[in-house]
Amino acid sequence: MKTVSLIIDGKKVKAPEGERVLWAALDNDIYIPHLCARRDNSAPDASCRLCWVEIEGRLKPVTACTETVENGMVVNTRGAAALRLARTALELLLASNEVDCASCAKSGNCELQKIAAHLKISLKNRRFRKILRNLPVDDSSPLFIYNPNKCVLCGQCIWVCRQRLGIGALGFAHRGFNRRMTTFGDQPIGQSPCRECRDCVDICPTGALCFKPAAAKL
Ligand code: FES
Repeated sequence: MKTVSLIIDGKKVKAPEGERVLWAALDNDIYIPHLCARRDNSAPDASCRLCWVEIEGRLKPVTACTETVENGMVVNTRGAAALRLARTALELLLASNEVDCASCAKSGNCELQKIAAHLKISLKNRRFRKILRNLPVDDSSPLFIYNPNKCVLCGQCIWVCRQRLGIGALGFAHRGFNRRMTTFGDQPIGQSPCRECRDCVDICPTGALCFKPAAAKL
């Protein structure tokens, strides 16, 4: 496979031709915040708006998960304009997200905590008015609990259930502020075609999907 050479944050790196900037950076230990990207997705939906980077010669920042590497490209993941956009995206996300790290089973292993630390944003940030969705928690699965109020709508669980396992028990419903991950017909997950494979819980980047205490030990 042909490779291209580029510079990311002053570091010379090589990446396969056609690779996205996000993966080229992560493969070289350069962190860029991201929630919705998947390496196998040839048409990223770029919905989380967290992976902004600046590229020399471009007027505006671009999302690293959609931008393809080019020979001689110079990427800056720490530019002021890119960080400003990423911080705003995180602050908007936090404005409608239930944050209770002290009692959350994913605390310490939560992508939101990692992104907030990287962007130097408090998880209790109040730049935007907090409006919680107050959706009911679904504990109908014998294995795990789904708290939609902690869901960041990254779509990773939907992808793993449908694309990797071919089950399709999960999907998105509604739009805008009301958008949420749910099952077909909004059934409780325990009554859906879920096969309790655990993969959606493993891939969830936040505390939205957490194992029940007994299942966590299995
Ligand atoms: S990872 Fe690029 S927009 Fe979500």
